[in-house]
Amino acid sequence: MRLISSVVAVASFIAVSTNAVYAYGALGHTLTGQIAQQFLTPKTTTQIQKILQSYDGLLSGAASWPDQVRGLAQYKWATPLHFFNPVGDQPPDHCSADYVVAGSDNVNGLFNMTATMRKWAITPPTTPKESKTLEEALKFFLHFMGDIHQPLHDSSRDRGGNQAPIRWGKTKSNLHSMWDTLMITKDIKDRFNDDPQAYLDDIIKLAKTYWSDASTWTACDPIKNADASKNPWASTTKDIKTLCPIQWAMDTNALDCTYVWVNYSSTRDYSTDYFQQMTGPQSNYLVQRLLAQAGIRIAAVLNEVFDPSAKLPLTKRRPGGARLLPDY
Ligand SMILES: *[C@@H]1O[C@H](CO)[C@@H](O)[C@H](O)[C@H]1NC(C)=O
Ligand SMILES: *[C@@H]1O[C@H](CO)[C@@H](O)[C@H](O)[C@H]1NC(C)=O
Repeated sequence: MRLISSVVAVASFIAVSTNAVYAYGALGHTLTGQIAQQFLTPKTTTQIQKILQSYDGLLSGAASWPDQVRGLAQYKWATPLHFFNPVGDQPPDHCSADYVVAGSDNVNGLFNMTATMRKWAITPPTTPKESKTLEEALKFFLHFMGDIHQPLHDSSRDRGGNQAPIRWGKTKSNLHSMWDTLMITKDIKDRFNDDPQAYLDDIIKLAKTYWSDASTWTACDPIKNADASKNPWASTTKDIKTLCPIQWAMDTNALDCTYVWVNYSSTRDYSTDYFQQMTGPQSNYLVQRLLAQAGIRIAAVLNEVFDPSAKLPLTKRRPGGARLLPDY
């Protein structure tokens, strides 16, 4: 029940104050955390409960924390890790997101945080300071996973769409905020009677029955991830088969050319046909699909880090693909 009431509270908060929200909105992060929670193994769940004591073990509560500390000097290093601004990216004509070896960006942030979590999963923290390091790495990891699945966090044009004004019904907004929150909030309101839990249930149902490729989401494509061995944390992250941030950034960035920026116009009302397309069958329910991918991939990585010996029921896997998701 806590889950449901907290997401409702977030939803109504977002509805009245979308201007104040940046990065994948609090609602998006809450939803990805809730999806991920459903796919954790019992052992991973126990580990997470220990790490996230101040959040009652809930990923959904912890996932927005990096935005809350974003202005603080001691977390300045993390600011560039919320985004990936690929050089040469010019959507919708040309999309590219090459890995920047040892760069300070969303992709490297995920390698960095996963390496930290892995280190402390193997040798559990013994001091409050070490525990704090692990807790923060987990919170950043959750958050950066949501961000990397928001197409405008992987796009260089107009500061990730923050400086691309749009019309949204009678109000004005920008492309970035619309992808962060406006489309999610409106979809919940219009199709799910303003009930975030129903929206969440629908996402899980789509993952089980509609997105036929869902069982491949946790496998890394070796070609796209070839550069992963060059990341500065490779000695720790190379064994984690479900961690593929280079691929995720490329795939999400490609959506900027196929959907997000197509026919951009500051005078268009995005709350009509564009909204219908991005939240409906014409795009395979793209907005919900990205939330699902983020959530399921969070769970896969956390299971691999915190419960490496789990013998799980396997989902279908493609040849050479990764194991690791509990069956739906
Ligand atoms: C990696 O994470 C640490 C905190 O654990 C931080 O101090 C450092 O700046 C990060 N570096 C990059 C490139 O992400
Ligand atoms: C973009 O605009 C063109 C011309 O109006 C139209 O044919 C096309 O379907 C539009 N594409 C999208 C994705 O909106």
